Amino acid sequence: MNHLLGIGDLTKDDIETYLDKAQYYAGKLGDDRDYHSDALKNKIIVNAFFENSTRTLLSFEMAARRLGADIVNWDKENSSLSKGESFEDTIRTIDAMYPSALIMRHSGNGAPVDVARQVEHCCVINAGDGSREHPTQALLDALTMKLHFGKLKELVVAIVGDIAHSRVAASNMILLTKMGATVRVIAPKELMPSGFPVDNIQPLNDLREGIKGADVIMSIRPQKERMQDVSIKDDEYFRDYGLTYGLLNLADTNAVVLDPGPFNRGLQISEDLANDRARFLYDWQVSNGIATRMAVLDLVVSGES
Ligand code: NCD
Repeated sequence: MNHLLGIGDLTKDDIETYLDKAQYYAGKLGDDRDYHSDALKNKIIVNAFFENSTRTLLSFEMAARRLGADIVNWDKENSSLSKGESFEDTIRTIDAMYPSALIMRHSGNGAPVDVARQVEHCCVINAGDGSREHPTQALLDALTMKLHFGKLKELVVAIVGDIAHSRVAASNMILLTKMGATVRVIAPKELMPSGFPVDNIQPLNDLREGIKGADVIMSIRPQKERMQDVSIKDDEYFRDYGLTYGLLNLADTNAVVLDPGPFNRGLQISEDLANDRARFLYDWQVSNGIATRMAVLDLVVSGES
């Protein structure tokens, strides 16, 4: 059975296979906004999001439809979890209906890994688990960087914000170091983790120092819903960690800003920079999310990954 549970499980070649396929679909969607294929015709895919989502849920759904699959959205609010059914039995029930794939988001670190061990009939794709991994987000970020700069190797990427609670930061650290980029992480002490998922990560508390000469600045939202003993003051956070044109001057002259979304204007990024599509590549990341999730669904469900 094929699964995509984390970037940590992938080799450099696997990542390249996903990115090549994603680039192929980005090209198709660039040529024809109505592009559809039959690659996953007759397949039924289930979205099971136990945590909120806008971009990831919608883009998996659109990606599946563009590949000709049928997609069913399991709805937590209307599910039997509220009637006392356990998580494991909910998964068992979905698996017994023989979907081709189960795309899941969950607040528990490692939940999709446990589910992949449990299911007998379907592929499992991780759409974000706790603060552990968000593999398709890291792949779409990598696709955006690769399309923009023509390479990932030797890029200097500064990830700024809530490093401690972010699965996006974690998956990006793993992917980018595997692909030969240099990764710095910048956060206030209370949002900096005590360890990183890979070696060779440079931690810094000072944003000015951290973004010097960077090609990419990736902003990560303070994940307030995951903070237990920490509270941050919005005005101080923006003063010390908010991205503005003034700060961008310290990075490479061609530096661009990425953000997985949802992003907070006036907290993570200034209003004018957030509206600048040439420097802040957010919309392009969202579009690339469809191509990337088409690639992932195609490779995982067809068993070629
Ligand atoms: C992220 C997530 O949910 O992990 N969003 C996303 O998938 N694009 C990041 C976040 O919530 O800050």
